[in-house]
Amino acid sequence: MDLQAVVDDIVRDLQPRLGEGKVADYIPELARVDPKQFGLAITTVDGTTYTAGDADTSFSIQSISKVFMLTLALGKAGESVWKRVGREPSGSSFNSIVQLEHEHGIPRNPFINAGAIVITDMVLAGHKPREAIGEFLRFMRFIADDDSVTIDEKVARSEQETGFRNFALANFMRGFGNLQHPVEHTLGVYFHQCALAMSCVQLSHAGLYLANRGTNPLTGFSVVSPKRARRINALMLTCGHYDGSGDFAYHVGLPGKSGVGGGILAIAPGKASIAVWSPGLNKVGNSALGSVALEMLATRTGWSVFGT
Ligand code: DON
Repeated sequence: MDLQAVVDDIVRDLQPRLGEGKVADYIPELARVDPKQFGLAITTVDGTTYTAGDADTSFSIQSISKVFMLTLALGKAGESVWKRVGREPSGSSFNSIVQLEHEHGIPRNPFINAGAIVITDMVLAGHKPREAIGEFLRFMRFIADDDSVTIDEKVARSEQETGFRNFALANFMRGFGNLQHPVEHTLGVYFHQCALAMSCVQLSHAGLYLANRGTNPLTGFSVVSPKRARRINALMLTCGHYDGSGDFAYHVGLPGKSGVGGGILAIAPGKASIAVWSPGLNKVGNSALGSVALEMLATRTGWSVFGT
């Protein structure tokens, strides 16, 4: 299969649709991004990267960071993570509070905002917020094999100033005893992890351990066990696109995680790590053209985990 031709064709086919969707505007700094950008990068498990469009332009990874924080939390707390957060799809929007009261402050899964905030609280244990942010940044540079990855402080500040719903979720969970640090500390780390800026190329490298049984083929370093990589992929498939997860599985059929910056990381287990970025979002807050591009890719490569 000529993967370079596949990515080139997708970018060419989507050219007339650039700008579709609505850029996230509840974080003012994200509202300033040019919606006509589009990037795609595939890195296969043999370490080859195929790119097209704006694949080297940095964007705010936002909720895609939740996959990597979950990886850190599992490394730190192991299976006890699941005492404080569930593993079921929520069927609700990413920032919903509705299930939290019924379920006693235990979020449905680690990818909705409430769940991700609890996961960040776990990684924060034993650290000052600045240290936890540093640990996350070091981890991202390690798995991307790239020391140029940075946090966009302007985006972090912008969200800090307008993250009213996240403050509500965090305070609510603290009321239930499911947050162990001051809300400002946990959210300070959470806003910084979401503000990580990466390109599609860097993100496709960072996701490789999930495609390659837990080991990054670029460095040869083991990040997680094969079993843990498989389980993180399962959570991405069932919960990675919030109330759009079923639709994403139906159309794309790959474990994936979206972010309101317009990025999506998708994993073809045993084959490749794929990053796509287009800032315009669909109604459930996932990249509109990014989802279309991944459907094209899954169809043209036959990589859906559900068969060709
Ligand atoms: O907490 C928030 O609202 C953002 N920092 C992240 C949300 C997000 O990316 C949802 N994904 N589609």
